[in-house]
Amino acid sequence: MADRYLRLTGTAPGRFLTRRLGLPQPAPLRRWSAERPSLDGPVLRLTAGEPAPDRPDSPHSPAPYAAVVLDATGIAEPAGLRAVHTSLHPLTAGLAPSGRVVVLGTRPGDGDLHRAAAQQALEGFVRSLGKKIGRGRTVQLVRLAPGAAPDSTLDFLLSPKSAYVSGQVIEVGPAPGQPPPGDRRRTALVTGAARGIGEAVAAALARDGAHVVCLDVPSAGDALGAVAARLGGTALALDITAADAGERIAAAVAGLGRGHDSGLGGGLDVLVHNAGITRDRRLSRMDGDRWDAVLEVNLGSVLRTTGHLLAAGALNDHGRIVATASIAGIAGNAGQTNYAASKAGIIGFVRALAADEALRERGVTVNAVAPGFIETDMTAAVPLFIREAGRRLNSLGQGGLPVDVAETVAWLASPASGGISGQVVRVCGQSLLGA
Ligand SMILES: NC(=O)c1ccc[n+]([C@@H]2O[C@H](COP(=O)([O-])OP(=O)(O)OC[C@H]3O[C@@H](n4cnc5c(N)ncnc54)[C@H](O)[C@@H]3O)[C@@H](O)[C@H]2O)c1
Repeated sequence: MADRYLRLTGTAPGRFLTRRLGLPQPAPLRRWSAERPSLDGPVLRLTAGEPAPDRPDSPHSPAPYAAVVLDATGIAEPAGLRAVHTSLHPLTAGLAPSGRVVVLGTRPGDGDLHRAAAQQALEGFVRSLGKKIGRGRTVQLVRLAPGAAPDSTLDFLLSPKSAYVSGQVIEVGPAPGQPPPGDRRRTALVTGAARGIGEAVAAALARDGAHVVCLDVPSAGDALGAVAARLGGTALALDITAADAGERIAAAVAGLGRGHDSGLGGGLDVLVHNAGITRDRRLSRMDGDRWDAVLEVNLGSVLRTTGHLLAAGALNDHGRIVATASIAGIAGNAGQTNYAASKAGIIGFVRALAADEALRERGVTVNAVAPGFIETDMTAAVPLFIREAGRRLNSLGQGGLPVDVAETVAWLASPASGGISGQVVRVCGQSLLGA
């Protein structure tokens, strides 16, 4: 499972050899830790067209910028795009390793043609810059609606937590309604939490203060119990495809609220649909059981349990629903007609539910993460050469870690992320698949 090539290029002889052979040079990514929670270096904020301030060029020159945030919301016609060049051209080569470029724009819309063209142009710009900027740096476009509250999004994108997110376009709107109360501990449910990405998601949500109900199949009981115990959460051994899964989740969560001094309200604040399986075969060799199993775990159960929990009133106001898609659901993937269909279905589900007026009024948000190649047991089972290709065919030249998806989920699940809904955020190092 370990990425031996990344380790090799992390040594001086390995770097020398692979450079001579013209092989990719993935940079070690700076990830979040409690000891080093921020990027190293200052953040520069500019309005498009504004030149970067002069900095002394001497042995005592200051640390390179860790990030540049460029406000391009005012660009209303294609000629105005030159301002983006003016501001960023002198800066990107000197940005710190694992540095960030975040461009702020607006929704292209369909009214003013010149504005629409210019604002859409920013997407091409950002996605291209991400492909070549190198050294573990990332580039994103954040589209702000009028009255948007982008703080949680900028906090995430300008931190080491977004290490494996690049080339993304994220829309942020105003956060509706009142902010959630801060005096009660939040309750989260994570499906497929016994290992891999789900375990990392549960850990990130627990770190951020939630009581986490960790759900997985009964056969994963020991691992599940260990994860829940480590995080001070609750284990729920349950097959998510069971007809009564929704009822049993609702009952387990209600039971938590009745616990003495639990500080929990008895409803769910965060619902993370993470459990997923693959049963790959080319379509001509795929029997119906493989098709059904994947569609049922990855999509059918998500719709059924969400429907039940909403109907039962088990999701609190300002609740957060995050479902797990995949870049296969965006780009398709050989041998994965069943899997890609299920993951594309997740995207359809998320967009439709996010548009539900009643949920919006209650401040509920619904989003998807779409992981690319993440180092887990699921991808360890992929044949060697396909695995190596999956690791390298992205702008960061390496696979992601479960924690990269987990941090993205934690950002979307945050009480401060009320303005983000209906988004599909890829955690794929800007994979060439579906880019
Ligand atoms: N690893 C990747 O590269 C990658 C890429 C894209 C998407 N994803 C998605 O991320 C999610 C997690 O993937 P992972 O790599 O951690 O997988 P994994 O196989 O390591 O873990 C999946 C977990 O889900 C649980 N699960 C499976 N069926 C279940 C069911 N019926 N009821 C309850 N739990 C069930 C498993 O027991 C396991 O603990 C999945 O939805 C997967 O499709 C993963």
